[in-house]
Amino acid sequence: MNPGTVLTQPVLITGASSGIGFACAELLVNQGAEHIIITGRCPEKLAVAKQALQSKADNSRVDIYQCDQSSKEDIERLFAELTLHESWPASVVMNVGINYFHEYGAKKLHNLTFEQIEQSITVNITHTVYMLTQLLKPMRNRQAGKLILIGSQGWLHGLAGQALYNLSKSSLVGLKNSIVSEYQANGVFCHLLHPGVVINARTKKLRRKHPELEATAVSEMQVAEAIFGLLNIENASENGQEMVI
Ligand SMILES: NC(=O)c1ccc[n+]([C@@H]2O[C@H](COP(=O)([O-])OP(=O)(O)OC[C@H]3O[C@@H](n4cnc5c(N)ncnc54)[C@H](OP(=O)(O)O)[C@@H]3O)[C@@H](O)[C@H]2O)c1
Repeated sequence: MNPGTVLTQPVLITGASSGIGFACAELLVNQGAEHIIITGRCPEKLAVAKQALQSKADNSRVDIYQCDQSSKEDIERLFAELTLHESWPASVVMNVGINYFHEYGAKKLHNLTFEQIEQSITVNITHTVYMLTQLLKPMRNRQAGKLILIGSQGWLHGLAGQALYNLSKSSLVGLKNSIVSEYQANGVFCHLLHPGVVINARTKKLRRKHPELEATAVSEMQVAEAIFGLLNIENASENGQEMVI
């Protein structure tokens, strides 16, 4: 991939009708990206996001796909539709990541049910890897591709009450390293970004409970800028970055 291709070839951002994913789409559109593909569970939210993105840049094509990452069928339908519409992404931001902590509060390991374990592992690990299997085949064939995995700093501190989130986000380190060692010879770049607390709707309760977190919290746009920086890395010697923001 040559410099600038991030803006000229389709970029897929998962979970991007709001939050960090939306900020990333917004930044790309503002930079002149020609084709953005965003996913989410709620079609109405996706439609609003599309309208907001297109109001910023008439020239950008914005495609929306309803895809719940907890559903294998939705993932398969997404890739079938991308193939059908010849919208295969050259760059992908794997942004979806669920954390029951923000919905239900802290839960120590001994209080977890099998269903809660299964849900977090399925969305954050199994289906993330499953999506990557679909993406890596064409990237390998084209000898080009950019992948950004969105991690978190929570696991670095072993934040109490969110063990499954910590487990799933820490697993991205090994996943990123494996992708780099298996596919860097095929022109595929993979980087991992670990945001700290981000000032957004998801962390509203957390920040209300711990106002001291505001001092070090970052904005969604700061995270988006870090993602954009990683997407623009073209030097093979810089493949496999792990960045904390
Ligand atoms: N916020 C933070 O402080 C923080 C810190 C570190 C890391 N992160 C990571 O950054 C990523 C984005 O976080 P965020 O704060 O922007 O989260 P968010 O606000 O919860 O993300 C919202 C977006 O994800 C979509 N989404 C949620 N569940 C989905 C699912 N199962 N399948 C498909 N789309 C789904 C939402 O749309 P629908 O509701 O319509 O599905 C929406 O577009 C996550 O991986 C998170 O772990 C966040």
